[in-house]
Amino acid sequence: MSKFVGIDLGTTFSAVAYIDEKGNPIIIPNKQGENITPSTVLFGGKKPVVGSAAKKKSFTDPKNYEAFVKRHMGEKTYSFTAKNGETFRPEEISALILSKLKSDAESFLGDTVDGAVITVPAYFGDPQRQATRDAATAAGLNVLDIINEPTAAAIAFGIGKNIGKSQKIMIYDFGGGTFDVSILDIDEDSIRVIATNGDHKLGGYDIDMAIVDYVKEKAEEEGMDIENDIKAMQNLMIQAEEAKKTLSSDDTTEISLYVKGEDLTIELDRETFEDMIETILDTTVSVMLRTLDEANLDYSQIDKILLVGGSTRIPIIQKVIEDESGIKPSSEVHPDEAVAIGAAYHAVDVVKQMAEGTFNSGKPKDDSQSKEEIYVNIDDIPELDKNYTFKDITSHGIGIVVCDDNLKKFSNSVIMEKNTEIPAEVIQDGYSTSEPYQEIIRLQVTQGEDRNLDYVTIIGEADLKVKPRNYIVPVRIIVSCDKDAIIHVRAIDLDQNIDLGEVTINRDKHNMTEEEVKKAANRINKLNIGE
Ligand SMILES: Nc1ncnc2c1ncn2[C@@H]1O[C@H](COP(=O)(O)OP(=O)(O)OP(=O)(O)O)[C@@H](O)[C@H]1O
Ligand SMILES: [Mg+2]
Repeated sequence: MSKFVGIDLGTTFSAVAYIDEKGNPIIIPNKQGENITPSTVLFGGKKPVVGSAAKKKSFTDPKNYEAFVKRHMGEKTYSFTAKNGETFRPEEISALILSKLKSDAESFLGDTVDGAVITVPAYFGDPQRQATRDAATAAGLNVLDIINEPTAAAIAFGIGKNIGKSQKIMIYDFGGGTFDVSILDIDEDSIRVIATNGDHKLGGYDIDMAIVDYVKEKAEEEGMDIENDIKAMQNLMIQAEEAKKTLSSDDTTEISLYVKGEDLTIELDRETFEDMIETILDTTVSVMLRTLDEANLDYSQIDKILLVGGSTRIPIIQKVIEDESGIKPSSEVHPDEAVAIGAAYHAVDVVKQMAEGTFNSGKPKDDSQSKEEIYVNIDDIPELDKNYTFKDITSHGIGIVVCDDNLKKFSNSVIMEKNTEIPAEVIQDGYSTSEPYQEIIRLQVTQGEDRNLDYVTIIGEADLKVKPRNYIVPVRIIVSCDKDAIIHVRAIDLDQNIDLGEVTINRDKHNMTEEEVKKAANRINKLNIGE
């Protein structure tokens, strides 16, 4: 039996899949028998509760409830504080969710899970990818690979199908917390991402909040203040999501609440709901257009628009896409399961390559978190109908901070453009020290496309020693990005042809240290949430 799984670690729901001996994809149900597990945690009991039970009980104890933590991955300043004062980093909350997924998968498979491919949104930068890896490590999971959600959806779409000649597919993924659009080229054995864009603060959650705001307003008209009743607020958030789902099939629904001792029922019809989410839908259309533009394509060159993510079940979304593009969007893959299934196919592929000794994660050799050795019998690996190789792209521009000639203004100089196929290396000359006799070059690495530093993130910095001379020294910058989207930046003194060294991407600014990951692993292990 396969002991390698694919995990779609979603903002609102997570899914786990594996490929059986015959090569069929199977979604692994959790211990509650559900195919997807809410990515939610409730503290306050003997040990934390994850999933539907946490969500159901959330409004009785909202201060002990944490959801949507994926939105905070890679933010070192964020932590969740439970009522007893204990704090948890986003990686730890994620690790609790992953622990349940792992434990449920192990009960289902009757075996240990020896490795997992985990998916992340395509536009996750280096800090968020690293945070996801750390969360998995803290959950005791061996990460085989981290791949992009749209790539995983494309694998699930392509395997088992006769694609024929190459097709250009737009993946419209509208989930619970994030929205993204990717355009890919797919044929019989390869997937190439051409362009990708997303908004990681736009999802079904925002649609729920539009309903919440509507109900709050209606309640106010009746003289009721929901905002200051924390239990009613939490109940409203849960009911808003339910109402939204009901409106995907019914024309009307209602929300009933108990606010400070009084009953309140608000009716909601589909038309009012559709008006309410118009600006959200307009935003998704503008992301589609931006992605097309970056891919240098127009709708007539797109063969298919593939719907992924639970929010694409809202009927008006399908209409908006068709009105915009003239293409009837396709529901060929399961909106909740495709990403986990694609990841599971990739897990089989990685394990096979490991068994054959040909797997190269592209990670640096000294990476202390490199994978554990895995021993697999090649005969136990399921035979797939085809193996996809894929090329991903960078989701952000990478550059350095430069200073203009008058040494007055600092700005961002992009060296590796967004949407560059990876692995890649860009060599850029034309930089220099600022003045004669300079001894140190302060090199700051940026992530982002804008020239204005207000709109970019500094992801690493270093003071590189340079031999002082009585003139300005020309400098070459080399930016490389490996297969795992890990960035390396080095500087060369072109005058004396000396390698000045590499800038370490400053993970500590966004991510846990190795020591902290170990501590988190101990803490999660002690909480023993799987049982
Ligand atoms: N029938 C439905 N109608 C409307 N929305 C729905 C329906 N079913 C599920 N959803 C919404 O889909 C969202 C969950 O989708 P999905 O599981 O794809 O997201 P996710 O993977 O958790 O998020 P992300 O990909 O953004 O990290 C939730 O907001 C949920 O309310
Ligand atoms: Mg998703």
